Amino acid sequence: MSGKNATEVLLADAQGIARAAAILERGGLVAVPTETVYGLAARADSAEAVARIYAAKGRPDFNPLIVHVRDAAQAAEYAELSEVAKSIAGQEWPGPLTLVLPLREDAGLAPAVSAGLPTLAVRAPAHPVMRALLEQVDFPLAAPSANRSGFISPTNAEHVLASLDGRIDCALDGGPCEKGLESTILAVRHDGSLEELRPGPIDVVALKSRINAELVGSADACMHDGSIESPGQLASHYAPGKPVRLNALAPEAGEFMIGFGEVEGECSLSSSGDLGEAAARLYDCLHQAARSAAPRIAVAPIPDEGVGRAINDRLRRAAA
Ligand code: TXA
Ligand code: MG
Repeated sequence: MSGKNATEVLLADAQGIARAAAILERGGLVAVPTETVYGLAARADSAEAVARIYAAKGRPDFNPLIVHVRDAAQAAEYAELSEVAKSIAGQEWPGPLTLVLPLREDAGLAPAVSAGLPTLAVRAPAHPVMRALLEQVDFPLAAPSANRSGFISPTNAEHVLASLDGRIDCALDGGPCEKGLESTILAVRHDGSLEELRPGPIDVVALKSRINAELVGSADACMHDGSIESPGQLASHYAPGKPVRLNALAPEAGEFMIGFGEVEGECSLSSSGDLGEAAARLYDCLHQAARSAAPRIAVAPIPDEGVGRAINDRLRRAAA
């Protein structure tokens, strides 16, 4: 199905969404906008469809996928939702938060989705196009970011095609993504404790203060103790293919400068120093820097607070 032919680009209106649903139904691959980044969706209950995701991305088979659902009730068909998980889902879904929960034995999903782990990553996205698609199909959607494995995540349809044209059946064009960074990933343990596996748009420290549970780890703690549970969180992801110098106050010769606040550049994440705007623009600036003639990239310092933690996490990986 996904082969030599060029990828069909559809406007994400009712007609485009209906056509995308039909492609998914027969096991095809569709790039879909979400509020975080564009996802590469396939039906999660089909081993063949899920295998196509791994093949199109060139993704190693030990790196599991996030399953996208309409709501907590649908999530409960595939994963065990404890009281803590239900309370978090109740507050944050639909939205840019992925929960890692015990996989149900009777989930009936393609085994490759969870790459053999006893857990499942699930998320109910907020983007109207992804939600409309989930309403039209009677299966959940496995969807990693819609880029070749290890490269920069896509925040518009053009980024998707630059990476996957001809390798997927269709891309729904819904304009740029609002958040611009992948979802926060939070594991909910059997004892109700929480572990942040990937920082993202949802601030886990603020979330913790809203719910009755103990935060036992942070993404950094999880990297340091050697027990990396999110295999995709290894260094050297998000690679723009050129050396990246962080915390730069001015460009050196041969550098494409990405600015922030007072620090100017060919591309600025946010000239007013707004971290939400910087998150939304990060990947587009990295795509521009990757495409430019400059052999190297420099990036201004970003405050390590709120969503700035997630921006710095991605920048460290881009520089690794
Ligand atoms: O915002 C997002 O999360 C986007 C949109 C499309 O929803 N998706 C996304 O997927 O970023 P991906 O595949 O690029 O990143 C998923 C991450 C990977 O690091 C993977 O290792 C981790 O989730 N993951 C998946 N299942 C897991 C599990 N059972 N336990 C721990 N980590 C898991
Ligand atoms: Mg990804």
